[in-house]
Amino acid sequence: MGITGMIYMVTIVFSLIVLLLSSSAARYDYFQFTQQYQLAACNSKPIPCKDPPDKLFTVHGLWPSDSNGHDPVNCSKSTVDAQKLGNLTTQLEIIWPNVYNRTDHISFWDKQWNKHGTCGHPTIMNDIHYFQTVIKMYITQKQNVSKILSRAKIEPEGKPRKQVDIVNAIRKGTNDKEPKLKCQKNNQVTELVEVTLCSNRNLTGFINCPRHIPNGSRYSCPTKNILY
Ligand SMILES: *[C@@H]1O[C@H](CO)[C@@H](O)[C@H](O)[C@H]1NC(C)=O
Ligand SMILES: *[C@@H]1O[C@H](CO)[C@@H](O)[C@H](O)[C@H]1NC(C)=O
Ligand SMILES: *[C@@H]1O[C@H](CO)[C@@H](O)[C@H](O)[C@H]1NC(C)=O
Ligand SMILES: *[C@@H]1O[C@H](CO)[C@@H](O)[C@H](O)[C@H]1NC(C)=O
Ligand SMILES: *[C@@H]1O[C@H](CO)[C@@H](O)[C@H](O)[C@H]1NC(C)=O
Ligand SMILES: *[C@@H]1O[C@H](CO)[C@@H](O)[C@H](O)[C@H]1NC(C)=O
Repeated sequence: MGITGMIYMVTIVFSLIVLLLSSSAARYDYFQFTQQYQLAACNSKPIPCKDPPDKLFTVHGLWPSDSNGHDPVNCSKSTVDAQKLGNLTTQLEIIWPNVYNRTDHISFWDKQWNKHGTCGHPTIMNDIHYFQTVIKMYITQKQNVSKILSRAKIEPEGKPRKQVDIVNAIRKGTNDKEPKLKCQKNNQVTELVEVTLCSNRNLTGFINCPRHIPNGSRYSCPTKNILY
């Protein structure tokens, strides 16, 4: 093989490696739509939330995820500002508040977009589309976890719940697909803090969440006595 052939081969091999690396870096096969229960989210912090939390599940984030566990993050860098968001802001403030600092929602949205949203291509086309998609899911498609629980008569009364009752209530709102739950222990009580609904990679249907919080983890939910 001549020198030209060598250079050619090396170039091809190198290009393949780069291609493999870049495609594996942004690999996702489903989306997690994670909502946090504001009261419990505030309890999770050593510093209390300045403004009183609402007894509502609001958005934590929409995360392109990999069922093998290597969820892509930080795929590119771009800043979200209030001007760009325009009239989406009003709805985002309601469904996606920064419960820790309600004077600074934008930094929460910017963080979620940069860490997770940027990895959602091609389902997520750009930052505005990321926020529009979340609004559509929570409001238009009624993926509001508070509402889904409420329809099954599970209201935020701070009562002990069985895991199976919570899961079955969510299943009724997700075409019978399994959600992912996150709990946290505070003193002697275990609170429900997050519910994740999982959808396929083009966001056209719910799927069973492929990965759960392992049983031994401090965030796993017990089978009963989950406060909500
Ligand atoms: C992604 O970016 C955020 C914000 O810049 C940073 O806190 C985080 O450590 C990064 N994660 C990885 C895995 O690079
Ligand atoms: C926001 O503005 C766009 C056009 O700029 C309009 O189509 C849309 O209906 C507006 N949405 C709301 C919620 O006002
Ligand atoms: C809340 O956000 C505002 C605006 O960015 C900032 O000035 C303030 O220090 C933040 N407060 C806390 C407690 O982080
Ligand atoms: C979500 O559901 C709760 C409980 O039904 C309701 O109070 C809240 O207004 C809903 N949020 C939106 C934006 O629809
Ligand atoms: C969306 O993805 C699912 C599998 O994840 C596939 O079965 C379906 O055909 C896709 N739909 C569209 C419109 O691309
Ligand atoms: C976790 O615990 C539940 C109930 O105790 C059990 O059904 C499940 O198989 C366990 N999962 C794992 C991964 O051990």
